[in-house]
Amino acid sequence: MPRKFYITTMGCQMNEYDSDYLSQLLLQDRFEASRRPEDADLIMINTCTVRRKAEQKAYSLLGRMVSIKRKRPDTIIGLVGCIAQQEGAQLLERFPGLDFVLGTREIGRIGEVLDRVEGTGERIAATDLNKTSLPSGHLPGYFAGKVKGYLSIMEGCDNFCSYCIVPYVRGREVSRPPKEILSEAKSLVSQGVKEITLLGQNVNSYRPEEDDSFGFPSLLRELEEVDGLRRIRFTTSHPKDLSDDLIRCFRELRKLCPHIHLPVQSGSNRVLKLMNRGYTREKYAELIQRLRDARPDIAVTSDIIVGFPGESDEDFHLTLDLIRKIQFDSIYSFKYSDRKGTPAASLGHKVSEEIKAKRLSTLQALQKSITLSKNKLLEGKEVEVLVEGPSKRGRQLTGRTDTNKVVNFNHHTGSLGELVKVKIKRSFANSLRGEISSTRA
Ligand code: 5AD
Ligand code: SF4
Repeated sequence: MPRKFYITTMGCQMNEYDSDYLSQLLLQDRFEASRRPEDADLIMINTCTVRRKAEQKAYSLLGRMVSIKRKRPDTIIGLVGCIAQQEGAQLLERFPGLDFVLGTREIGRIGEVLDRVEGTGERIAATDLNKTSLPSGHLPGYFAGKVKGYLSIMEGCDNFCSYCIVPYVRGREVSRPPKEILSEAKSLVSQGVKEITLLGQNVNSYRPEEDDSFGFPSLLRELEEVDGLRRIRFTTSHPKDLSDDLIRCFRELRKLCPHIHLPVQSGSNRVLKLMNRGYTREKYAELIQRLRDARPDIAVTSDIIVGFPGESDEDFHLTLDLIRKIQFDSIYSFKYSDRKGTPAASLGHKVSEEIKAKRLSTLQALQKSITLSKNKLLEGKEVEVLVEGPSKRGRQLTGRTDTNKVVNFNHHTGSLGELVKVKIKRSFANSLRGEISSTRA
């Protein structure tokens, strides 16, 4: 009888992608997927360590999984991903129920690690960062029934923003060969995927080893030619490396969605410098203007950290001012969190939790009003939606506009994977509601 595995994924899209890779390896081996950890012979947690909160969540989940193991002692438990990479073998000492630790670039070794754990009862920490860990192909049918897919184009990050743990847990930048990326894109499309999001910590610095004149825009141009692919997105790009050629792509490429996620992090030049971001607020605003000139309907979203060490009221007000000026479509905002080993962790003048919380809620209230007023402008307009399936409440269909806004709509016609035209009737802060007006977009 095949054995069962359960995997739960925390953190970013890169982790989702890694979990899919891990799942495919296990399905090709001796396992089938389980919906519940209680029924699984192998339980894995793919972890995130970008902020302390994510880390705490992972440890409490691990505690829950270990308690399942108490009832079923043969269960194998593995901690995977960024915490695994950061903490390594010491996790095995701290958590006696844990059988293995698998770092971010060791995913391909899952079969061998399991053989050893099962064969000898050995407990293993595999955390070599000098490898690359990317799939060489898909398990046939794995993505069947999915409309959207992720595709990793590069691993790692070389930017070393002073607050960020990512370069330490994901290693140096390595770009995948374009041929591999194109073949993975075609494989996704052949399984019914219509929209691909290209993933990388900093996609702008995509540069394959074999041809360093082939940058990210060249890759986008090749993907534009893939038959059956309807939409291309990417995340994340860094403002300091956003090239003229990439801006041109937004003007020229039909399949490239008019949306860019461009983390600004702060609106204060003093803080940006301390963060080692390599641009100023003026440079950022100029980039947005150029993107809007190239593609007037482009949606712009961003990440912002409040309460970076030494952030004064004045710095914070500069961030609010930039938010008002840029008018983002939406923002992911976070309280600064000390990460062991990063330069910012050893900076003085830490901002109190209370002030961080206050700043976060002020920022979020401002952004909510901007998002709402932007969404209001869409009422009465027709938008193109890629149908993803039934809405959360089940009575409607749901999908996203090319600008990445969620739309729920009544369905007389229109099915999974179709691009349809929807007339927006009402708008909210997190979604839009509409009526289908045509099944041909
Ligand atoms: N504290 C708070 N937020 C962080 N981010 C990265 N590191 C930290 C940290 N130490 C945020 C950044 C990044 C997003 C993915 O997470 O805004 O863009
Ligand atoms: Fe972290 Fe900066 Fe790299 Fe993004 S670009 S992953 S914030 S170091």
